[in-house]
Amino acid sequence: MPLSRRHFLQGSSTLAAAAPSQSFAANDRIQAGVIGTGARSHELMQFLMRVPGVEIVGVSDAYTGRVERALERVGKKAKAYSSYKEILADKSIEAVVVATPDHWHKNMVIEAVQSGKDVYCEKPLTYRSLEGLEIVRAARQAKRIVQVGSQGVSSEAQRKAREMIRAGKLGRVTMIRAAYNRNTASGAWIYPIPPDASPRTVNWEAFLGPAPKRPFSLERFFRWRCYEDYSGGIATDLFVHLCTTIHFLMEAKAPSRVTGMGQLYRWTGSRDVPDTLNAILEYPEGFTVNLSSTFNNQFSAEGSFQILGAEGSILLGDGMTFVAENAIEDNRWIVESWPSKLEEEYYKNPKVRQEELPHTHQPKLKPVTEQYRSEGADSTLSHMAGWVDAIRTRKPPYEDALVGHRAAACAHMVNQSVKQRRVVEWDFQKEDVKA
Ligand SMILES: NC(=O)c1ccc[n+]([C@@H]2O[C@H](COP(=O)([O-])OP(=O)(O)OC[C@H]3O[C@@H](n4cnc5c(N)ncnc54)[C@H](O)[C@@H]3O)[C@@H](O)[C@H]2O)c1
Repeated sequence: MPLSRRHFLQGSSTLAAAAPSQSFAANDRIQAGVIGTGARSHELMQFLMRVPGVEIVGVSDAYTGRVERALERVGKKAKAYSSYKEILADKSIEAVVVATPDHWHKNMVIEAVQSGKDVYCEKPLTYRSLEGLEIVRAARQAKRIVQVGSQGVSSEAQRKAREMIRAGKLGRVTMIRAAYNRNTASGAWIYPIPPDASPRTVNWEAFLGPAPKRPFSLERFFRWRCYEDYSGGIATDLFVHLCTTIHFLMEAKAPSRVTGMGQLYRWTGSRDVPDTLNAILEYPEGFTVNLSSTFNNQFSAEGSFQILGAEGSILLGDGMTFVAENAIEDNRWIVESWPSKLEEEYYKNPKVRQEELPHTHQPKLKPVTEQYRSEGADSTLSHMAGWVDAIRTRKPPYEDALVGHRAAACAHMVNQSVKQRRVVEWDFQKEDVKA
């Protein structure tokens, strides 16, 4: 079972668990705006429309085709705004979804909270690590809810996994392995470009925003993940999901040390970010993480997200599987090399008789396996419902700006390590990457 984005992120969850509280009057519908109505945003809008008590009243995008489709999707009651700043200036809009390319997140989130809006910002929260604390401070000052969009943590599978780890069912967890492997052009972010895209339908300046000035390019506009002017590539697109989950499951903040290696082997000519990335993250809580991703092969061992403890493992994917450890002591090949008399005596030792003999002379015991299948609502639906609940109750959601900052920072540390060919460290006092 390769760990596809869908498998891992769409693990089930029930809407009830994160349903909005009843403290607001039933007719008090939250008026929401959507900034960036691209591919992900269309998924988000479909889910948000299913959360009770929310209405999408405004949309804005830098390509006319996506505005057109967004209005089709949410109904003609919604209005198109020619710029995100107009959405933010509209006092009747209380909350916004930000689903633009990563290089825009910081400005849009900060301007949104300063305009009094609560925010759902897609992952990664930041394009550069140093943007994270700026966002955290702005959200706190404005007393606004910011939730980041790594929806996996709202899935039933990940919540069940967290409970098991907390309850000690896995024993001591010291190793986590997770991978994303793909072997298609689309998986490598070479998305189709709509045939009507041109300088007439695409607002290039709006897309560029804080990014370096460049001549008009449809490849850059529609395949922005391939370019480091707008994205951190595999690390910020994919590893950030894995890190959010790992922090959630292990109740960890950030890794103390990170090292990475990345190469662009195959999809040359279409990008300036690696298509192959490996990273090691060491956590002060006492565990180490291996993250890897290739866009050149999609074979994956079953359960490519593995949480490994001395007494059991959890495999996360489409649902969740717990497998008890079945380790047996067997020193036969060692003591067979001793003098015969000593070998005989070894097996007379009551401890050895108890720990080694029953197993070595019996067929191997089958490991205990427990499986939790995906049932119930999609994790994005639960994640959005959790955001709406936080808006109503004013209680911070799990994946607030600080949590989003730390997860995105892991991705930035991996990229920094690749570029600088060194181990990158986290400063726990500063809550940011060590200079
Ligand atoms: N949580 C998930 O599973 C998940 C999945 C996919 C994407 N994402 C995230 O969602 C975000 C968007 O990704 P996508 O795949 O939808 O990309 P996309 O290119 O399909 O959509 C981005 C949209 O933003 C628009 N845009 C750019 N600048 C703008 C501006 N100044 N004002 C208004 N609109 C602007 C573009 O026109 C485009 O339509 C990214 O941060 C990505 O990492 C998250």
